[in-house]
Amino acid sequence: QDPSLPEPITIKLDEVGDHIKLRKGDDGEKGTRVRVLGRVHRERKQKELLFITLRDGYGYMQIVVGGQLAKTYDAITLTRETSMEIIGEICEVPAGARAPLNRELRADYFHIPAHWKAAGGDDAITNRVSADNQSHAHLLDLRHLTLRGETSSSVLLVRDAVEYAFLTAYRELKIRKVSPPALVQTQVEGGATLFKLDYYGQEAYLTQSSQLYLETCLPFMGNVFCIEKSFRAEKSLTRRHLSEFTHVEAELDFITFDDLLSHIEHLICRVLEILFADPVTAAHIKTLNPELTMPSRPFLRMRYSDAIDWLVKNDIPNEEGEPHKFGDDIAEAAERRMTDIINKPIFITHFPREIKAFYMQVDKDDTRVTESVDCLMPGVGEIVGGSMRLDDYDALMAAFKREGLDPEAYSWYVDQRKYGSSPHGGYGLGLERLLAWICKQHTVRDCCLYPRYMGRCKP
Ligand code: 4AD
Repeated sequence: QDPSLPEPITIKLDEVGDHIKLRKGDDGEKGTRVRVLGRVHRERKQKELLFITLRDGYGYMQIVVGGQLAKTYDAITLTRETSMEIIGEICEVPAGARAPLNRELRADYFHIPAHWKAAGGDDAITNRVSADNQSHAHLLDLRHLTLRGETSSSVLLVRDAVEYAFLTAYRELKIRKVSPPALVQTQVEGGATLFKLDYYGQEAYLTQSSQLYLETCLPFMGNVFCIEKSFRAEKSLTRRHLSEFTHVEAELDFITFDDLLSHIEHLICRVLEILFADPVTAAHIKTLNPELTMPSRPFLRMRYSDAIDWLVKNDIPNEEGEPHKFGDDIAEAAERRMTDIINKPIFITHFPREIKAFYMQVDKDDTRVTESVDCLMPGVGEIVGGSMRLDDYDALMAAFKREGLDPEAYSWYVDQRKYGSSPHGGYGLGLERLLAWICKQHTVRDCCLYPRYMGRCKP
């Protein structure tokens, strides 16, 4: 290091502000001397100069290494992903050139401790994660490395912002956060997808949904939400099913079904507004999904029976290849074609009792159906499932009987109907599915850190 130079300030690569002055041109005022730390994202040699794009998780910075520094052994043998400390003057990029934040760091010093050096040769990261001749599964084995890529990391940066946006939106609505247990002894969404485990000699499960626990919070916390993991032993490989997913769930007290629909619509739009209001997040979204705009409100509302008619009219068959009829589940493929054709958010409401969960309130005007809703998004399909809840003790007991569930295991849930029942409802939103829509990702697997699905439990 040259001790005659000014003491550097240490900054993250996205840092801007009046304390960082850029040198403009070659004979202008000096730029601030800064110290940065990060990994080599890319590097290229151009004549006597070494250009490095440094990455630190906050941003990218162009580094220019020239003169004697560029001729050092470490500069000549520099490999991608090597960690470095670099000090230099921060300058405007020359006219016509482009770099992140229109600036570059002209290095006067760099340091690479021996163990910070990344492997080179056959073991170089570019050889290990190159998509050529590599299966998707192999790339997922290497997700701890592929996550360093621009698209993967962008999605996860948006994910961080989305989680904060939910916290903000819920806080604005005075909905309180709770944290229900993941180890449970009740099923919520059917026995077929339960992960069972031995719990000190008793049978227990990984939770499929925190809904039933959220319902127990209404009498003492008012409206509540949680952002927790839910687990489903999904025995099929699709682009929107995970075995472990992040579930944004809320439960609202003393509401009507209409209130529930308006709330879900508000929440989705408010989260988007918060994301767009943050320039960094908005820039990530713009790169990933340039077409994303704020959906117009109110969302299209379509009763299940009308959705069935729509599918018949549009020649979209059910899973058996036959025209849809009342009582059919709207399977993933049909749902996706529907959302792609309509191409805007849709609320499908009033699903038949037989194809929905035991806890759903029956519609008073048509007892074949429930006060239920799925929210579908273009390109993804269902991202939210919600309903009003059966609030009458006898009706709930009848539902347990119909579904063959032992009310004894649900005694704590049943107590809610004994001690101050209320008209209430709620929903669950799959965070990875919301992200797949926002970031235009083909599969939810790319919207979480380390996806879990049938056959994969690593890294
Ligand atoms: O429609 P679901 O099964 O509803 C419930 O679990 C309710 N108990 C929630 C509630 O009312 N509190 O799931 C809700 C949402 C789905 O719309 C979907 O977005 C997501 O959770 N989801 C999954 N996401 C990824 N992988 C899976 N296997 C999922 N299963 C559900």
